Amino acid sequence: EKDGHDWFMRKEIFEQPRAVADSLLGRMSPEGLLQLDEVRLSDDELREIDKIIIIACGTSFYAGMVAKYAIEHWCRIPVEVELASEFRYRDPILNYSTLVVAISQSGETADTLQAIRHARVQRSKVLAICNTNGSTIPRESDAVIYTHAGPEIGVASTKGFLTQLVACYLLALYLAQVKGTRYGDEVHQVVRQLEAVPAQIQDVLDRAEDVYALAREYVDASSVLFLGRHAGYPVALEGALKLKELAYLHAEGFAAGELKHGPIALVDDGLPVLCIVPSRGRDHLHDKMVSGIQEVRARGARTICLAEVGDTAIEPYADVLFRLPKVPTLLQPLVATVPLQLFACELATAKGHDVDQPRNLAKSVTVE
Ligand code: F6R
Repeated sequence: EKDGHDWFMRKEIFEQPRAVADSLLGRMSPEGLLQLDEVRLSDDELREIDKIIIIACGTSFYAGMVAKYAIEHWCRIPVEVELASEFRYRDPILNYSTLVVAISQSGETADTLQAIRHARVQRSKVLAICNTNGSTIPRESDAVIYTHAGPEIGVASTKGFLTQLVACYLLALYLAQVKGTRYGDEVHQVVRQLEAVPAQIQDVLDRAEDVYALAREYVDASSVLFLGRHAGYPVALEGALKLKELAYLHAEGFAAGELKHGPIALVDDGLPVLCIVPSRGRDHLHDKMVSGIQEVRARGARTICLAEVGDTAIEPYADVLFRLPKVPTLLQPLVATVPLQLFACELATAKGHDVDQPRNLAKSVTVE
């Protein structure tokens, strides 16, 4: 049942090329138009939307953060991303032209469910991104995009997260097409890039042993930091969450530009810092990230860098370098998350923890 793997989580990490491919399947018409038939909102209704609020918890919340970058860039619609547990209690401004997007792998998370109920009372439209057919959240939503990850058994979300990202990109592209923004014409091209991703994830998985060897060096670490920028920032947060929940290890993710505003004081001799380096396509971001890495290294950090193939600028500042396939920065979370999942899974295994059933955690959180 675990396909020869020791944990469901590891099996699910290795299923990601298939899960991503399945989540893309049949979304493109022969004319090059994106088709999301589960979006039961008319094009006119979608054109009316002037604000999007994404609500989710935990790992799904990080998928929402990536979605904000994609939707604002491609669709020019303002997006807020909010933790479902906070959303209802701040008296959010909602109306019929607000689209609320609820992201939930299980479709049963109580905080997210209560948040969409609140939104619907205020006459907002709700679209769910969900992996579980017929679960409560999609049943109570106006529209659904189902991810096709297949059942996720491991408590820590892995393939659920990657397929949520795919759904978010598709939603963003769909809205761009409906609204007719200039990116509407590039949909075809981005879909092509997405279709190349499963093989690129496989390329990362083929080098899992390198990540495992690295992870085992840190069984006695007391803290690990993760740095990212732009779409790499939620990846840093996700990498840190995985380490906390599986290895019970203190870990924090930061936006690299925030370092100098406080967190750099944490950096001490030998502190492992995992850095997600943006692709070279966005040189301004890339160069800022490299200088952030330089700064932590000068203060004694051990820099473990995830950077795309051919990025030579990073070499002098990386104590350890793991190569990522070439993917635009906006899509990079699809490949950059994978080594961080492998890292947390192996580190927790080396510490003797039950990776599939971490202490104090449940697969679906049905209480608020
Ligand atoms: C972390 C994890 C959790 C869930 C969160 C939301 O690995 O699995 O943080 O992402 O509890 O769950 P869903 O997506 O089912 O609403």
